[in-house]
Amino acid sequence: MIDDFVEQHRELGQKVTEIVTAHVAGLAERRVTPEATPQQLEKLFDEPLPEKGSSIDEILKRFRTDVAPNAMGVPSPRYFGQFNPTPLPIGVWADVFTSMLNQNGGAWRNGPTSAMIEARVIRWLCDLLNYGAQSFGTLASGGSEANLIALKCARDRIAGSVKDHGMRSASRDLVVYASDQCHYSIDKSVDILGMGRNSLRKIPTDDRFHIRVDALREQIARDRDEGYLPSCIVGVAGTTSSGAIDPIEELAAVARENDCWYHVDAAYGGPLAFSAKHKAKLQGIELADSITFDPHKWMFVPFSCGAVLVREGGRVLRDSFDMTPEYLSEDRGGSDVEFDFFRYGQMGTRRFNSLKLWMAMKFMGREGYARAVERHIDLTNYFAGRIDALPNFERVGEVETAVCCFRHSSNSEQQLQQKIEREGEVWLTTTVLRGRRALRVNINSFLTEQHHVDHLITQIEKAGSEL
Ligand SMILES: Cc1ncc(COP(=O)(O)O)c(C=O)c1O
Repeated sequence: MIDDFVEQHRELGQKVTEIVTAHVAGLAERRVTPEATPQQLEKLFDEPLPEKGSSIDEILKRFRTDVAPNAMGVPSPRYFGQFNPTPLPIGVWADVFTSMLNQNGGAWRNGPTSAMIEARVIRWLCDLLNYGAQSFGTLASGGSEANLIALKCARDRIAGSVKDHGMRSASRDLVVYASDQCHYSIDKSVDILGMGRNSLRKIPTDDRFHIRVDALREQIARDRDEGYLPSCIVGVAGTTSSGAIDPIEELAAVARENDCWYHVDAAYGGPLAFSAKHKAKLQGIELADSITFDPHKWMFVPFSCGAVLVREGGRVLRDSFDMTPEYLSEDRGGSDVEFDFFRYGQMGTRRFNSLKLWMAMKFMGREGYARAVERHIDLTNYFAGRIDALPNFERVGEVETAVCCFRHSSNSEQQLQQKIEREGEVWLTTTVLRGRRALRVNINSFLTEQHHVDHLITQIEKAGSEL
């Protein structure tokens, strides 16, 4: 039995390595967007539950012919879409080790090195942000879950009875503040936490898409007058639409004055802290009660890998989430409890996701990440300069991170994006800013070079001239 198992690993390892290297070798030339329609793909995979097993060769063939060619070209240097990176090879292959060991990092006993390495990478992220020695956190599936965990800590800190007795036990209705540019996971979080989506006050932003602190103060005062309980302020370090960074330090002061929990969603912008040149953009982040930081965005860790960090440490997370089920209640002298990650969030069984992050951070080092972040911002500024030089295009907002938004004089941004998408040579997205559609470019691949950006400009110019 075991001999077969070993042989299967050997055979798969060799064949998979061939497939992976052939696929990544094709990234330079292959189209970014696959051409198949949802109907075509549905048909391609429409087959009954297999009665008999298939051979490894047949399965790998299906991957090569049907799965990989129809995948979105996220790892391509010409992918300028969402905050989705080219994954580092060390991260891709770390995932193999993770699956091979299949440690369950939920409880220390079930995943000793998973838990220990998770604690280590959390420490590294905290140190990167100058979070104090007490700070701690947990990995999460992504920024959405990290935001939810943080907002639950906020809710439970401000209204301690709600965890056990429900929202009705709160003295007043809780409200949360974030800019009108915040990620939709904040809306979802307040809903899931029983506060209701209307409890999220979307504060207007200025012409650079930063939260207006004057409007925030006015809204808090209004809410107090009307009997609401201001409970949490969310700042964003790198908004999803335009990459803008809220005034982080100023928001910390507003939160302090109003006894609110302060959360910074740095899911995208967190890695600015690697760069001596750009880290001042995050000034004051260490004052936040909690921080969301997604290594699967600008740290090139393959999906999924998010993190939430909490200034006052694991105790806060445990106050909110800890349980001791019978089958996890053996006493090991207490030293293990600290590394039972199921106590720090919603997840039970968890992948050994810290491994790919640990390996990625060891591979890149602070310097490697600083260089990547700086290069991406430089390339984005270069792109912005080229857009400025084009007739009929106008930029919207500023380049603060590696995102650039712009419009076309025809007001037909969606058509322009779709034309480019059909061509498939590059991919960019659109968003809506101030009620109007805009084109959006994000540089998030360490493979992207200036000639790729020039190619993107050529495609944009061509599509614009055809409108
Ligand atoms: C600012 C911000 N926060 C949170 C998220 C959610 O992250 P995820 O998609 O990993 O759940 C995103 C995703 O783009 C984001 O841009």
